[in-house]
Amino acid sequence: MGEVVEAGSLEGIASTTMKKLHKAGLVTLESIAVTPPREIVELTGMGADTAMKVSALARLKVDPGFVSATEMLEMRSHMRRCRTGSNELDRILGGGVETGVITELIGEFGSGKTQICYTLSVLAQMPVEEGGLGGRVCVIDTESTFLPERIVQIAEARGYDSREVLSNILIARAYNSEHQIILIKNLPQVCQEHDVKLVIVDSMIGHFRGEYIGRGTLAERQQKLGNALGNLLRVAEAFNLAVVLTNQVQAKPDTAYGDPNKPAGGHVMAHACTHRMYLRRGRANTRLAQIIDSPYLPEVKVRIAITPAGITDEDGGLPAMGDEDEVKPRDEE
Ligand SMILES: Nc1ncnc2c1ncn2[C@@H]1O[C@H](COP(=O)(O)OP(=O)(O)OP(=O)(O)O)[C@@H](O)[C@H]1O
Ligand SMILES: [Mg+2]
Repeated sequence: MGEVVEAGSLEGIASTTMKKLHKAGLVTLESIAVTPPREIVELTGMGADTAMKVSALARLKVDPGFVSATEMLEMRSHMRRCRTGSNELDRILGGGVETGVITELIGEFGSGKTQICYTLSVLAQMPVEEGGLGGRVCVIDTESTFLPERIVQIAEARGYDSREVLSNILIARAYNSEHQIILIKNLPQVCQEHDVKLVIVDSMIGHFRGEYIGRGTLAERQQKLGNALGNLLRVAEAFNLAVVLTNQVQAKPDTAYGDPNKPAGGHVMAHACTHRMYLRRGRANTRLAQIIDSPYLPEVKVRIAITPAGITDEDGGLPAMGDEDEVKPRDEE
């Protein structure tokens, strides 16, 4: 996956067209396949018909449409999981944060969403044998809360070389929702060039909520949000990388009992995200994490802690490295 496409490898496409694609940074089948034709036109200046043809051919090569369930299982076997820093959290996630799908962290302010993102940015870089994803990390920060100092602290507390860890994290500040959308659209190229294995968007929804106010704008907001989420999902699949998004909660006006909060972003967000984790404040430095709406993970609740080493189990102990048994999903319960 991710091999540079040469002229001729897309049958029927002229070498001058291939050159235009390369010049625009669309150097791999995956990046061509995930870029909408309209955008290929904008980027390369080629005609719309050619762009459609190129896009369709690339998509066919990358994704042949229907696949047998056997092949699907084969594809899923390339799925990797990234440790979160807490064995308990890994356990309820079925072993860690999955590649190929979107995982959503939902919670009110201070519930630990960004702290999980920090910890993942350090651990995802580690080799697969150590529970990482063995690649770089790309962070789209919409709230300007992602600080390198905290990365250094977490890396050092875990005994890693903080300078090396920092050098493997690419951070982009998104100033508004349009900028965020552009950064997401550019991900195929960035992920290809920098061997990214984890993409974080913290927060996915903040700008959208802030900018589209009032009922009349909701449809447009949801459409743009949906498109951006679609792009993220395609990147997750095409590059077999993990995507982690954060989301806030909003008050449900009509709640008489139970939790008065619900995730923002409505159905669009709910459908795009495969695994959703709900975070709540617990006593002292602990937080309660619970999986909600997952296709196969049970809705169990665990307690985690926020420490100088980032996210850990409640007792603050760092998870044992390379201890496979600790992170296997427990079937019988
Ligand atoms: N170095 C640290 N050691 C221990 N706890 C920390 C450290 N840094 C931050 N925290 C704790 O993490 C909490 C903040 O968590 P976090 O920033 O992840 O919240 P969040 O869910 O992202 O909130 P928001 O919605 O406002 O972005 C605070 O309670 C803070 O005390
Ligand atoms: Mg935050």
